[in-house]
Amino acid sequence: MIRTVSSTPYSDQKPGTSGLRKKVPVFQQQNYTENFIQSIFDSLQGFKGETLVIGGDGRYYNREVIQIALRMAAANGFGRVLVGQGGIMSTPAVSHVIRKHKAFGGIILSASHNPGGPNEDFGIKYNASNGGPAPESLTDAIFARSRVIDRYLTADFPDVNLDSIGSLNAGGLMIEVIDPVDDYAELMEHLFDFGAIRDLIAGGFRVTFDAMHAVTGPYAREILVNRLGADPALIRNDVPLEDFGGHHPDPNLVHARELYDTMMAPDAPDFGAASDGDGDRNLIIGRSIFVTPSDSLAMLAANAHLAPGYKAGIAGIARSMPTSGAADRVAAKMEVQLYETPTGWKFFGNLLDAGRVTICGEESAGTGSTHVREKDGLWAVLLWLNILAVRRQSVLEIVEDHWATYGRTYYSRHDYEAVDTDAANTLMARIEERFGALPGTKLGPLTVARADNFSYHDPVDLSVSRNQGIRIHFEGGARIVFRLSGTGTSGATLRVYMEFYEPDPARHNRDTQEALSDLIAAAEELASIRALTGRDAPTVIT
Ligand code: G6P
Ligand code: ZN
Repeated sequence: MIRTVSSTPYSDQKPGTSGLRKKVPVFQQQNYTENFIQSIFDSLQGFKGETLVIGGDGRYYNREVIQIALRMAAANGFGRVLVGQGGIMSTPAVSHVIRKHKAFGGIILSASHNPGGPNEDFGIKYNASNGGPAPESLTDAIFARSRVIDRYLTADFPDVNLDSIGSLNAGGLMIEVIDPVDDYAELMEHLFDFGAIRDLIAGGFRVTFDAMHAVTGPYAREILVNRLGADPALIRNDVPLEDFGGHHPDPNLVHARELYDTMMAPDAPDFGAASDGDGDRNLIIGRSIFVTPSDSLAMLAANAHLAPGYKAGIAGIARSMPTSGAADRVAAKMEVQLYETPTGWKFFGNLLDAGRVTICGEESAGTGSTHVREKDGLWAVLLWLNILAVRRQSVLEIVEDHWATYGRTYYSRHDYEAVDTDAANTLMARIEERFGALPGTKLGPLTVARADNFSYHDPVDLSVSRNQGIRIHFEGGARIVFRLSGTGTSGATLRVYMEFYEPDPARHNRDTQEALSDLIAAAEELASIRALTGRDAPTVIT
């Protein structure tokens, strides 16, 4: 039943920020998917007879790849596979299922917030036994293997019915089709005070959630509606679709515009949230106030002790380098350590495993904690709801109170998507060439204090990750970061992150883009973005 199929390698299977992401037709090339999965298995040791978890965000090509992965897992000697019903499981739920069932690891099929469909994006990533994304040492090994691979192993058995829950034996492999929500919902009940949230909602507090036709629909129905009593009419787009209804399942102000408009309307619900394709990101909007992910991280960290799962306080906070310094001020006040890591959730894994931090977050709408090893969209929603249930204030009151206590960090990210790769590399290289000359340079009213390219020294495994983004620090603490995205699938995406700190409460109600206008102008002056990319304006402003 087990066959060895000879194959020839592809040269482009280098995992990015979060696994291998390519267009569906790339994955559909002869043996392309098989080569990558076999490269993962060939880079692992000691999994004979062990458990593998497989889940996906339900996008186009998910079901096909699950069947391929099941046959290959059997042929490679795994003993058991846990797979979500319908091939669906959110990324944080996979992380939890790996941990809870002591699996060897897991395969997540997702391209996160990127669009889905026959000509859109697909992705494969491997998570280790701690439930977290493979560390760079492993993704490097997988890439190296993919460049020389000459065969893969597969077993011959018919397609497995993914739609009905139950177990079967296929080629010696125990395959269990499990409810993707159960284990996860139980974990959430354990972390949060569902009684208090139920009371809040029963008292007329209106919660709206946009699942963006992606994986969190079933989770939102079970947790928000069935267990917490939210009005089902306010849960939108809760049926997962292979093409996400033709939209980008990206919970930002552009792609979750309807939710934003709902929350800005006079009769807005009290709390609005959305999650992305695979359920690990979150967008939080109060009535007439959007909470930036960087602020949300700071506010969740400052209030986490109000939820039962965190009542003992937090050990430390980690944020990615381009995330704003708002959380740093919370860490300082709480006298806990703040860690600054490169972009990519995998960098939080060691800190979480070592117990150095409890809460982590990124500007890219990811927040999470020690409960799993991925960022977790619904977790963030539930922690917000738990805090709101205890404080009995509006989102706006909590935000304003936070700014009054810690000061406000004005923050924005400007993205230039799908720009020419050479142009983007030139832009970055030209800034770096000027590093030596930049300190003391005046850009409008701002003076450069120092410039560098961020290197991360992992305090746990002592590994070093270089070239993680250009940082321009100005006198007075303002900052611009230039970085090329590691998750795009066409051309390059330039991200420009800008921030400055405003302690004065009288100046906390300015328009963000207006408040950042000097930094926006400085970024253009430094990088000649328009001339080099040919773009007049960012594709997306968040
Ligand atoms: C994924 C990763 C995040 C990362 C985000 C943006 O969601 O899991 O950790 O922040 O992509 O990455 P990028 O390289 O596109 O800025
Ligand atoms: Zn995601």
